[in-house]
Amino acid sequence: MAGLPKRKPRNEKQLAMRFDVLTLFPEVFQGFLGQSVLKRAIDAGLVDVKLYNIRDWAKDKHHSVDDRPFGGGPGMVLKVEPVVDCAESVRRQDPDPGHLVMLTPQGRRLKQPDVERLAENKRILLLCGRYEGFDERIREILKPEEISLGDFVLCGGEVAAMAIIEAVIRLVPDVLGDEDSSASDSFSAPGRLLEFAQYTRPREYRGLKVPEVLLSGNHQAVAQWREENSKERTRRRRAD
Ligand SMILES: C[S@@+](CC[C@H](N)C(=O)[O-])C[C@H]1O[C@@H](n2cnc3c(N)ncnc32)[C@H](O)[C@@H]1O
Repeated sequence: MAGLPKRKPRNEKQLAMRFDVLTLFPEVFQGFLGQSVLKRAIDAGLVDVKLYNIRDWAKDKHHSVDDRPFGGGPGMVLKVEPVVDCAESVRRQDPDPGHLVMLTPQGRRLKQPDVERLAENKRILLLCGRYEGFDERIREILKPEEISLGDFVLCGGEVAAMAIIEAVIRLVPDVLGDEDSSASDSFSAPGRLLEFAQYTRPREYRGLKVPEVLLSGNHQAVAQWREENSKERTRRRRAD
């Protein structure tokens, strides 16, 4: 209509990153996808997250995806056929086969430089385990990068997959606005220090005052205070 300002089309921006999540519990992601930074990135057409239920690739009439471990022992193991068929068929959906990540406590512990490396991909497939984990042949056939969230055991790979999606999209250009830029975040290059202490209003609460320098309006002094605070925090909290 004449006279009205033109609206930007919703998907004007180019898709920067596609995630394909292979899971037995796709429903777990519904709330996660519909909130905050990730939702905005999806709505803007910068990020796409596709969910696949591994069970859809089960061949038998019971749609079974797990079975008892050979050699005995507790729990169930994810079967090789549905997982491999699922991963291979999802990979084939796009000319870019993507970078396949298996979530497992036995993988490399995720650190910010790994996140930065992952963010260089245009497509990442995230394979979530459950039960006692994966039949070993899944690793041998698919040769995924194995990533762990840390030295503890979750019930499934879904929370780890969400953590990777959140960490990676923060680094995708245009996903974060200036107001929550990732440049000064803890672990960021070049220094990989912890972020400095942050304060907001009120200036004083229960006798605790905001450092005077942050109220001074002197940008150089603020930058210097932050740099020193960042170094001191890192020394104190992270001897490693
Ligand atoms: C109960 S765990 C299986 C643990 C396996 N029995 C072991 O000891 O290595 C089930 C699934 O949760 C996920 N998971 C558990 N802990 C994880 C972690 N620290 N990082 C990433 N994924 C994890 C993996 O996908 C795993 O296959």
